[in-house]
Amino acid sequence: MTQATTLRVDLGARAYDIVVGNDLVATAGAKMAGVLAQPRTLIVTDTNVAPLYLKPLEDSLDREGIEHASMVLPAGEGTKDHEHLNQLTDWMLGQRVERSTCVVALGGGVIGDIAGFAASMVLRGIDVIQIPTSLLAQVDSSVGGKTGINSRFGKNLLGTFHQPILVLADIGTLETLPPRQLLAGYAETVKYGLIEDADFFEWMDTNGVAFCGGDREIRREAVLRACAAKAETVAEDEKETGRRALLNFGHTFGHAFEAETGYGDALLHGEAVAIGMMVATELSVLLGLCPPGDARRTRAHLEKLGLPTGIAHITKPHWTADKLIGHMMSDKKVSAKRPTFILTRGIGKAFTTQDVEAQLLHDFLRGLL
Ligand code: NAD
Ligand code: GLY
Repeated sequence: MTQATTLRVDLGARAYDIVVGNDLVATAGAKMAGVLAQPRTLIVTDTNVAPLYLKPLEDSLDREGIEHASMVLPAGEGTKDHEHLNQLTDWMLGQRVERSTCVVALGGGVIGDIAGFAASMVLRGIDVIQIPTSLLAQVDSSVGGKTGINSRFGKNLLGTFHQPILVLADIGTLETLPPRQLLAGYAETVKYGLIEDADFFEWMDTNGVAFCGGDREIRREAVLRACAAKAETVAEDEKETGRRALLNFGHTFGHAFEAETGYGDALLHGEAVAIGMMVATELSVLLGLCPPGDARRTRAHLEKLGLPTGIAHITKPHWTADKLIGHMMSDKKVSAKRPTFILTRGIGKAFTTQDVEAQLLHDFLRGLL
């Protein structure tokens, strides 16, 4: 058994710990006891995660004398909508939630995002603890306080910044994660290497196969390194006015692909990000910014692990460059009516720009289609 490691997200009065290790769900009560304002929690989880991890979590809370009630939402991206948010906040109010009650998000990014959003609104904001059970949630969505739901106008367009008071990333939960979901989370993990840490990319290139094969120590180190990168970025730029925007590498394109495929099983978020990172890299090559060799290495790495790297992987009957650009114009990062792109000068050298000429973008997308 590997030891748990604690990282700190250094946000002054809102600082919190991220604990990465094994058996953290079964011992969550003891870890939570020290940070709860009252020994009472409202657990939010989904229909896939509940049968696996709700009982061990509840047992650990019972052992510490922490009260709990739980709501199980349908699994899947479709849950991040107004209807489920209303159900969730009604349930919380019906439970007579108090200002010092804590919400516990047990699940993947969908549960973390909607439970965090509900916690940020109910009684003008109550505490939330994130217990991420998917790889994507462990390396990205549970850390940093972004919460939200999707709107018919686009992804994550309604939401808040609401930092958790604790994150417990139990590596053991990855063992029940379906392989396709694991790979989708892998894309968000290797992203940290691609944007600003070439050494981490090299390490992932060496260890990625073992990671996907289930090596616990490699998984622990990868999640830890990704969380450390995210914690440092969030501490420096909580509200995404600068460096944090780099974490959206692959997302401007990825969100457009997700919007066209309807945010479902046809294309998972992490798969969209993998394709989006490759498309952003190819655009960088076209603009003469990125050495073609780095693009080839990136593609070879993603393909070695089995991730999609091009839109040939997506069924796209009615796609046009104009439609994709339309989605990009609904992205949160649009400013002065121009989309923001995260481009790259090579592995580990991403940067943000709005300086992509409209006709060039149009022709580039037409070329992809
Ligand atoms: P998800 O929550 O839908 O989880 C993926 C699937 O795995 C679901 O079916 C879930 O039930 C299942 N699952 C989760 N943990 C499991 C486990 N241990 N064993 C078995 N099954 C398990 O999706 P996700 O990939 O975790 O997260 C994607 C969401 O995260 C998107 O909505 C995305 O917008 C959001 N996101 C948010 C941020 C942020 O900063 N807030 C960052 C990145 C992504
Ligand atoms: N997932 C990007 C961010 O948290 O900023």
